[in-house]
Amino acid sequence: MLSYRHAFHAGNHADVLKHAVLVQALDYLKRKDKPFLFIDTHAGAGIYDLTGPWPQKNREYDGGIGRLLECPRLPGELEDYVSLIRSLNRHGPLQRYPGSPWLAAERLRAQDRARLFELHPAEFEALRAIFLRDKRVKVAQEDGFQALPSLLPPAQRRALVLIDPPYEVKQDYTTAVTALQAAWRRFPAAVYLLWYPVVRRAAIDRLERDLKDSGMRDVLQIELSVTPENAGGMQASGLIVVNPPWTLKPQLQGLLQFLADTLGQEGQGSYRIATLIAE
Ligand SMILES: C[S@@+](CC[C@H](N)C(=O)[O-])C[C@H]1O[C@@H](n2cnc3c(N)ncnc32)[C@H](O)[C@@H]1O
Repeated sequence: MLSYRHAFHAGNHADVLKHAVLVQALDYLKRKDKPFLFIDTHAGAGIYDLTGPWPQKNREYDGGIGRLLECPRLPGELEDYVSLIRSLNRHGPLQRYPGSPWLAAERLRAQDRARLFELHPAEFEALRAIFLRDKRVKVAQEDGFQALPSLLPPAQRRALVLIDPPYEVKQDYTTAVTALQAAWRRFPAAVYLLWYPVVRRAAIDRLERDLKDSGMRDVLQIELSVTPENAGGMQASGLIVVNPPWTLKPQLQGLLQFLADTLGQEGQGSYRIATLIAE
């Protein structure tokens, strides 16, 4: 089933959370000269034209990146991420929003590498076209869940893995944990980011239980909510961070507070940050 198109949601509050944390994690890995591998199991199209009919349907980006761009002052934790969005729109107002592959490629150095997986034929073609001339980036039209373990451990012995499925089917919650666990068993030292939407709290309770039963250690959980829990639709989204960089937790506190204040609808934003599994 491949009916999900990320263009409807590009730049919304969930993308802001995911991409701001992704940029922080990439910059942490760049503190050492040693190369690393970035893996995006569900890469999407790479760049989204916000003037197109799908993003325009609900203009979700207005409540996400749109609000951030209107802020006269941003906390330091958001500056790098927002400047990347500005650089993609350097000739005028917000018209394009990048996906995780483009953001990551902008942060990679000459010695780093990326492996991107995308199943949807049209999204894959768009992605492939972006990275045609970038020798650091390899793109494949394959199932990212299945491909992930085969890339681990990476030759570089350092990796950042983003697992960002569409959750169009309920099984994605369990498949994501199974794939994460399989990857972690092969390479426990990577930094793993697993994104999830909060639509039904029961699904997240189950996800947390599965993670606790997985044997993994050192797992951080963050969530950003923009409306009260019973408002319907996707009120919140979260990230599971396995092996969170030590700099990340203090940075996240300020970042989440700012995002809850700025993106919360009618003052109803909130966040949580908690150690789900200790070291
Ligand atoms: C949430 S979007 C990805 C967004 C992207 N990571 C970003 O942050 O910009 C999920 C993508 O996964 C793709 N997809 C669905 N199932 C997949 C699978 N098993 N393997 C790889 N890609 C898949 C969908 O076509 C969709 O483009």
